[in-house]
Amino acid sequence: MRPRDLPVDFATPNAARLYDYFLGGASNSSIDRELAHRISEAAPDTHGYVRSNRNFLRRAVRHMVGEGITQFLDIGSGIPTLGNVHEVARIVTPWVRVLYVDNNESAVNHSNTILNGDPNVLAVQADLRLPDHVLSKAAEFLDFSQPVGLLTVAVLHFIPDSDDPRALLANYHSALPSGSCHALSHATGDFDAEQMAAAIAAYEKDNDRLERVFARTREEVAALMGDDLELVEPGVVPTELWRPDGPRASKSGAYAALARKP
Ligand SMILES: C[S@@+](CC[C@H](N)C(=O)[O-])C[C@H]1O[C@@H](n2cnc3c(N)ncnc32)[C@H](O)[C@@H]1O
Repeated sequence: MRPRDLPVDFATPNAARLYDYFLGGASNSSIDRELAHRISEAAPDTHGYVRSNRNFLRRAVRHMVGEGITQFLDIGSGIPTLGNVHEVARIVTPWVRVLYVDNNESAVNHSNTILNGDPNVLAVQADLRLPDHVLSKAAEFLDFSQPVGLLTVAVLHFIPDSDDPRALLANYHSALPSGSCHALSHATGDFDAEQMAAAIAAYEKDNDRLERVFARTREEVAALMGDDLELVEPGVVPTELWRPDGPRASKSGAYAALARKP
């Protein structure tokens, strides 16, 4: 689908469309592409970081489907093009239901345009920082008496410590039935502090309407999972090293983890 077919709101760049551009998608505008080029100039590995993150998402979804999970709550979903949750899961099983949640209106509008009335996949606008609101929307679409695959992939670095991301996630974890899983990834400066700082500086420069990004250390990311879930091997690792299914293709700019509720 070309951008001209999509609802128009291209006055400012946004994280979802920027990310779509880095993935090679078409749901972005010239303003997003200009910002992407400035970020790539400052931090050439950004492209690889984004692809590596999306590849982790694919492997995490495949793992969860392998655990028998057929319904997913994807918070901070962006634009579900190019191998997103429902596409990946449906390769294994057609019986999949996915609720995509993003706080960006433009991303949600794009998503629903692309999803084109699919009765088992829906995008809604809601904020991860309001778990009661998100969970009530989720309960309208998903069956919380059965395991749910929760994804917070490349979104928690938009949540400042002042919003207590660990406590926010604990709300989601307590709503999950036994057998559910949570996959997360999170930007970090641990692997290349200079590039990550340059990427964030380029992203934030002159863009006071974009959410700020807070890279975290491995210890900080591990703490976000809390105590109610059990980390699945290999634990908290660079996205490229979470159960790789091929040779290492790019560098990681994020940690990845997947945990299961006993
Ligand atoms: C980098 S994209 C990640 C897309 C997808 N999860 C992936 O990893 O392939 C991050 C998304 O999180 C969304 N986002 C940022 N803060 C959020 C919040 N507080 N609540 C819900 N979504 C949020 C942004 O709008 C953006 O679409």
